[in-house]
Amino acid sequence: MDKMVIRGGERLLGQTRVSGSKNAALPILCAAILTPEPCTLRGVPALRDIRTTRLLLDRLGVKMSADAGDVVIDAKNLSGHEAPYEIVKTMRAGVLVLGPLVARLGRARVSLPGGCAIGARPIDQHLKGLEKLGAHIRLEHGYVEAEAPQGLKGAVINFDVPTVGGTENLLMAATLAQGKTVIANAAREPEIEALAEWLRAMGAKIDGDGTDEITIRGVTELHGADLPLIPDRIETGTLMVAAGITQGNVLLQNVRLDQVEAVVDKLRQAGLVIEPENDGVRVVGPHKVRAVDVRTHPYPGFPTDMQAQFMALMCINDGLSVVTETIFENRFMHVLELQRMGASIHIEGRSAMVRGTPFLSGAPVMATDLRASASLVLAGLTAEGVTEVQRIYHLDRGYERLDDKLIALGAKISRATQDTV
Ligand code: EPU
Repeated sequence: MDKMVIRGGERLLGQTRVSGSKNAALPILCAAILTPEPCTLRGVPALRDIRTTRLLLDRLGVKMSADAGDVVIDAKNLSGHEAPYEIVKTMRAGVLVLGPLVARLGRARVSLPGGCAIGARPIDQHLKGLEKLGAHIRLEHGYVEAEAPQGLKGAVINFDVPTVGGTENLLMAATLAQGKTVIANAAREPEIEALAEWLRAMGAKIDGDGTDEITIRGVTELHGADLPLIPDRIETGTLMVAAGITQGNVLLQNVRLDQVEAVVDKLRQAGLVIEPENDGVRVVGPHKVRAVDVRTHPYPGFPTDMQAQFMALMCINDGLSVVTETIFENRFMHVLELQRMGASIHIEGRSAMVRGTPFLSGAPVMATDLRASASLVLAGLTAEGVTEVQRIYHLDRGYERLDDKLIALGAKISRATQDTV
């Protein structure tokens, strides 16, 4: 198992390119199941979650081939209808084949994902929505068994909570349903718009994505599509914090500033200078970071996926910042590890009170999930001495060569094999 060894204290300088969005790629790859024609998604990052999706699609008889980030998905011979436990337990996004499989084959057997390090994360809303579309759902032996032998029928679906994955699953399922579907209280994340754009390129009739009410008029078949992926907005924010926390000066390329407004707003309040340039967005870190409160919300609010990284930045100022997590009930696992680096953080319910210190001190720490590991890497960039982030495989699920990008900007990072006792 690999660990990341970071010698802190280097200012990050230079330019780097943000990779394609993981959370847009995963549903889009699943959406390609909806057609027997080949589809091409361009600019797909080389990530562990993408490899896991390839494994899952392979089990379904779908061929996926990649050439320098351009991925061709061919579901002509779609034969399987099962997403097995071994795959869904390692990547919850495996449940995103549920909607497409029921829509195309009239049945699906998908493992329930089970618990997760950051919260309970049920999929009740996905199932409630599919039932509304006429699918018969049973839960048996840890699996969701969904059937709609006569096809799905359009309906009004009103989510109790705006769920990203639920909106994606139902959006995909409804494209081939008979008649009109309305998804109310839909999630508005840019990844939903990216999926809708992809589905439209496949011939789907969708309006209202990006708002909380999406209307889908079912069609009888979809065809192949060929589109580029949007940039990863969470990697964008993470690299912005990396520049800010090291008093760096970095030009980020392949950025959609309109999709990271809430993050940019908070980072500017913290003292970072973030300005568009011809060839990207320049990010300059302040001499002294200012304390800022932040509260996570569904898009367009401040994303939960940036909470841990923002907290790392808040550890090194001379004020008090309150970081409140409202989306997931257990997303403070990084706090104990940041405390081992000298951070002063006190948790009260859903809020973390972060009292800034002038510096953090390098230490061995443990990554517990994807964004927590990013937060520890960021803390390591500014800490005095050496930080060793163990279980770094969490980072590789969702960041493409983050260490190589940081090294190119001047960070002192290496990978080593983790000692086992
Ligand atoms: N929820 C329910 N019932 C459901 C679905 C969700 O109660 O049926 C609750 C969840 O428990 C949570 C809230 O609704 O409290 C939001 O969950 P959502 O379904 O929106 O999250 P998700 O689709 O499982 C995606 C991202 C996450 C990101 C969240 C929130 C992907 C593959 N994952 O998860 O990304 O945190 O939306 O924005 O798109 C990450 O990249 O690190 C990551 C965890």
